[in-house]
Amino acid sequence: MDEGVVIRAEGLRKYFPAGSGLWGRGKAFLRAVDGVSFHVGEGETLGLVGESGCGKSTVGMLLLGLHRPDAGRVLYRGEDILALEGEAKKRMRRNIQVVFQDPQSSLDPRMLIKKAVGFPLEVNGLARGAEVTRRVEAMLAEVGLRPEHMYRYPHEFSGGQRQRINIARALITGPRFVVFDEPTSALDVSVQAQILNLIKDLQKRHGYSYLFISHDLSVIRHVSRRVAVMYLGRIVETAPRGALFQTPKHPYTRALMAAVPKPDPARRQPLALLPGDVPSPVHIPPGCRFHPRCPEGMEVCRETEPAPVEVGPDHVVACHLWRDAGFENLRRSA
Ligand SMILES: Nc1ncnc2c1ncn2[C@@H]1O[C@H](COP(=O)(O)OP(=O)(O)OP(=O)(O)O)[C@@H](O)[C@H]1O
Ligand code: SF4
Ligand SMILES: [Mg+2]
Repeated sequence: MDEGVVIRAEGLRKYFPAGSGLWGRGKAFLRAVDGVSFHVGEGETLGLVGESGCGKSTVGMLLLGLHRPDAGRVLYRGEDILALEGEAKKRMRRNIQVVFQDPQSSLDPRMLIKKAVGFPLEVNGLARGAEVTRRVEAMLAEVGLRPEHMYRYPHEFSGGQRQRINIARALITGPRFVVFDEPTSALDVSVQAQILNLIKDLQKRHGYSYLFISHDLSVIRHVSRRVAVMYLGRIVETAPRGALFQTPKHPYTRALMAAVPKPDPARRQPLALLPGDVPSPVHIPPGCRFHPRCPEGMEVCRETEPAPVEVGPDHVVACHLWRDAGFENLRRSA
């Protein structure tokens, strides 16, 4: 049994059709998620960070069962969620919820907040009538809203309040694991911090486990206990937050850090230190997929994909630079 692990993703792969291949030969695929493994422990937050299009949301969708993987498995407390059917599948779905970015479009403008937040209880047959009202009221209080807010419509709320409503709706059925996909990206910075703190407080109170997806390293740093860095469909480095931010090992992670927004917005240049654009996930470079942009690339990087190496406690990096620096080797030579 997987002690203390709530979610485990093993070798997840998701390809999308991308028209026909070069000169009409064969089929081309967009390799959105290309062999991704990680786990999320009990009551912890794993941050998933990477540039736009690297496959973060697709990973989230795979965990939520909104996409079926082409390969790999998702285990919830050791149980393969894709193998479940009927009632067992429905029960499992209640354990895993999601909060997306856009507060405007995810709430029906004609639905009272009471109905929107209470809906998951009703469709799942978990409560009826006055019990729904009672639980919605309690849930709204949890996210910092008042009872009278139940009788208002989405347009009567600010962006931050609407995101509180979305969080209430996701948590009302009592999930144990929540995917947050850029939940604060559409909000002003001051409101962002309030929502991030709410998300953290709720975790402290109830012991939820989170996968927190963001392209913003400062947000990831604020909420995560561990962090996974993704590049072109793969995880290139995973580490506890402190180790990742103090001693990033992968050249891509280092480049991301160098590009973290500076106080002067005019200097906010993502990956300014790196040459070239992110390659298309339809034409992923051979060998290390980061090699065309890597300032430290070697001959071997063009041909051979680097295997993950443990370089510290719970710190894993996939890069040829660290191939001989495995944690065990480091410990032996210490
Ligand atoms: N349903 C789909 N059909 C075809 N291609 C898709 C689909 N969903 C995602 N993609 C492609 O897969 C790749 C990964 O997309 P994904 O949305 O997972 O990235 P992301 O890291 O979440 O990006 P962002 O930070 O912009 O949200 C992108 O190239 C995207 O265009
Ligand atoms: S494997 Fe090579 S190209 Fe890839 S990140 Fe490491 S040094 Fe750079
Ligand atoms: Mg996304």
